[in-house]
Amino acid sequence: MKTWVRWATLHGMPRMYFNKRARDGDPLSEILTNSLAENPYLFGNRIREQGRLVRTGLTWVTADHEVCRTILRDKNFGASAPEALKLPRSMRRLVRATDLKLANPVEPPSMLMVDPPQHTRYRKLVAQEFTPRAVGRLHDRIVEVTDELLAGLASRRDADLIADFATLLPVAIICGILGVPREEQDYMLELGHAGAPLLDIGISWRAFRDAIAALRASEEFIEEHIARLRVDPGDDILSQLAVNGSLTMPELKATVTLLAGAGFETTVNLLGNGMVVLHDHPDQLALLRAEPDRWPDAIEEILRFDSPVQMTSRTALCDMEIADRKIARGDSVTLLLGAANRDPAVFADPGAFDVTRANAREHLSFSSGVHACLGASLARMEGAVALSALYDRFPELRLTGAPERRDLVNLRGYQRIPAAPGLPAASRTA
Ligand code: HEM
Repeated sequence: MKTWVRWATLHGMPRMYFNKRARDGDPLSEILTNSLAENPYLFGNRIREQGRLVRTGLTWVTADHEVCRTILRDKNFGASAPEALKLPRSMRRLVRATDLKLANPVEPPSMLMVDPPQHTRYRKLVAQEFTPRAVGRLHDRIVEVTDELLAGLASRRDADLIADFATLLPVAIICGILGVPREEQDYMLELGHAGAPLLDIGISWRAFRDAIAALRASEEFIEEHIARLRVDPGDDILSQLAVNGSLTMPELKATVTLLAGAGFETTVNLLGNGMVVLHDHPDQLALLRAEPDRWPDAIEEILRFDSPVQMTSRTALCDMEIADRKIARGDSVTLLLGAANRDPAVFADPGAFDVTRANAREHLSFSSGVHACLGASLARMEGAVALSALYDRFPELRLTGAPERRDLVNLRGYQRIPAAPGLPAASRTA
């Protein structure tokens, strides 16, 4: 019952509201209720036409690159945890009373949902694991896992590039970082997958119930894993945190849940979106095959063109004025990161996919400010290694059916990409 009331408050009522507004043509509501939209950027364009910062029912919204960046970097905006939402007092009481006390990436004490100084403390404890230098040490492991996975694809006529490749690389790498044994990776994957809808607003009761069940199961798993590491610590970051007592158990569980989920539920979309966009732009793929040094730039353009994370939000901590609009303390602002990446004021011909675009790296796909993605260097490296190796190894790779989108709004990616890899390059030349 408690779970249902929480769903009704945080998702059920907003769902009805956004459905109604979508029918009335409100572009943000159309984005939020249309998880399979082929081109959500068209709604982003409509919002930008309405203004740089637009009031739309319950929230402000922006698809303007500069306004998004300014808000993300402004200390006067905080994270939008459920408790921070400007809801009527009775609903706010319900949110508090139905706290499920589960480690949830989108609720405190997840670092994503707390403000400094609490945020600074959590982030510092894990940041050293994700610096470009630390990630550099993972390079050989990323290459090794990629090679193993591609070897498994070699004889397949009916591969699914998502299930057989794009999900397996990031999950293997983040499990390595967290000291999770290989045989438990599939389990981690299932849990992450089931929890992903929680990043959307107004999800169905069924999706919410399944996500909460997955969080419960993952919490048990994480508790057991931490207990194991306390007895027999490895040289991974989680063993360090489990042993040194710098985080309470709820903080530790929240950190692991966030790192695990963020570590693969996003990177899989970078890889999948990249494969589809390169399939749709064979000239760009040909350029990359001829000039492989361009892969890191291509990863930036893939991130810009079809952002794996489409949006985030912030709550105003005081009254202020931004882009000539008066924002009141407690107001929430939805920041359309994916749409901001198509802002023509920053990116010339933004709807064109161009791996030579000089300023692609200005995209906001990794957000900005204090919550800027901790795993950005890792994701970039996984993206460049995985995609370059895939096309290098399989020159005849072709899709055998239409890619199917995942039924999610915020985490934008594919559920399935059917493909026939063809003969590996090595066996063609042999
Ligand atoms: C292409 C892949 C990825 C994308 C597009 C992505 C995107 C993002 C975005 C947009 C945010 C900030 C959200 C906000 O400002 O509210 C974020 C935060 C975060 N990401 Fe990523 N991410 C990716 C991969 C990863 C990986 C591989 C990890 C590794 C563990 C990771 C860990 C995190 C963490 C811990 C945060 C929270 C940071 C904080 O609150 O200080 N991400 N990510």
